Amino acid sequence: MTTDLVSIELRKAERSRIAEVDFNNLPFGKHFCDHMFVADFVDGQWQNLQVVPFSDFTFSPALSSLHYGQSIFEGMKAYKNEAGQVQLFRPLENWKRMNESARRMCMATIPEEVFMGGLEALMRIDADWVPNTPDSSLYIRPFLFGTDTYLGVAPSKTYRFCIFTCPVGAYYTKPPKLKVETEYIRSAPGGVGYAKCAGNYAGSMYPTLLAQQEGYDQLMWTDAVEHKYIEESGTMNIMFVINGKLVTPATSDSILKGVTRDSIVQVVRSWGIEVEERKVSIQEVIDGIENGNLTEAFGAGTAVVVSPYSLIGYQGKDYMLPEVAQDNSLATRIYNYLSDLRTGKIEDTFGWMHKI
Ligand code: COI
Repeated sequence: MTTDLVSIELRKAERSRIAEVDFNNLPFGKHFCDHMFVADFVDGQWQNLQVVPFSDFTFSPALSSLHYGQSIFEGMKAYKNEAGQVQLFRPLENWKRMNESARRMCMATIPEEVFMGGLEALMRIDADWVPNTPDSSLYIRPFLFGTDTYLGVAPSKTYRFCIFTCPVGAYYTKPPKLKVETEYIRSAPGGVGYAKCAGNYAGSMYPTLLAQQEGYDQLMWTDAVEHKYIEESGTMNIMFVINGKLVTPATSDSILKGVTRDSIVQVVRSWGIEVEERKVSIQEVIDGIENGNLTEAFGAGTAVVVSPYSLIGYQGKDYMLPEVAQDNSLATRIYNYLSDLRTGKIEDTFGWMHKI
């Protein structure tokens, strides 16, 4: 076990809060499990690895990451299989991406044994919190931030890495309405769009709020140069079914390399369905809706898994997406396949599940 490679101190919560949670009604990100994993990067080394009760941190007002934004995170999930065993979905992909984000933001990277050791220790101690009700899972939030108490603009020399978890149900309760954003941008070539850094989310909030005031739920971001090509949507990657093929924007330095996105591309290809990862123009999408060649549009991400959209608003006009019979849609097939894989109902032919 990776955990054996690192020594982790364990301090158990005196009393579990699990009985306070209604597992049949799990809003996203509101209930936090009993414990969290914490490690500090000090003097060039990861140290003080601990699993402790979920609790507040205390920091100086001069904490560097609060001012200059050296703060990155990941989102991943754990499931229970039918035998009650906890399994993580592709955790090493999140570890790799976290380190790509860390390098871009000039932060300390996290060794595999610290990431996986902390994660496994946490999964073991809070295993009872992993839901087994339909459409629910344990959302895992690893995050890393600079902890220097220093006001000069420079990379922090010290960092805290923490993982906490929450049992969650569906992220959206109904198919979101998307607005194509052609004024504000999320990211630009050469920027930090591919990094999962806190600032990318902060910068998206004002344009999203404006769209919400117009009655939309989320934005579909377009490229920073021409506002012509689709990048991603709100908190997820975006996918279309056009002429029976799965079409999705190719990843770049301005698009997050979603683990769910990559998994869907691999699964759909394994079904013999053609997948195109390429530039997708908003005009192609609007034309596809109008001439009936575009039959589905959905978001893909850890939190949402697969989330079909109901309409796309572009230049003041709303384009309704076709109502696809639920069971026949590719989005539903993918969702069911991933759920069955994660809960051990079908064979893990990709080798993606990591048993605890
Ligand atoms: C995830 O899907 O894990 C995300 O990062 C979205 C989150 C911001 C809710």
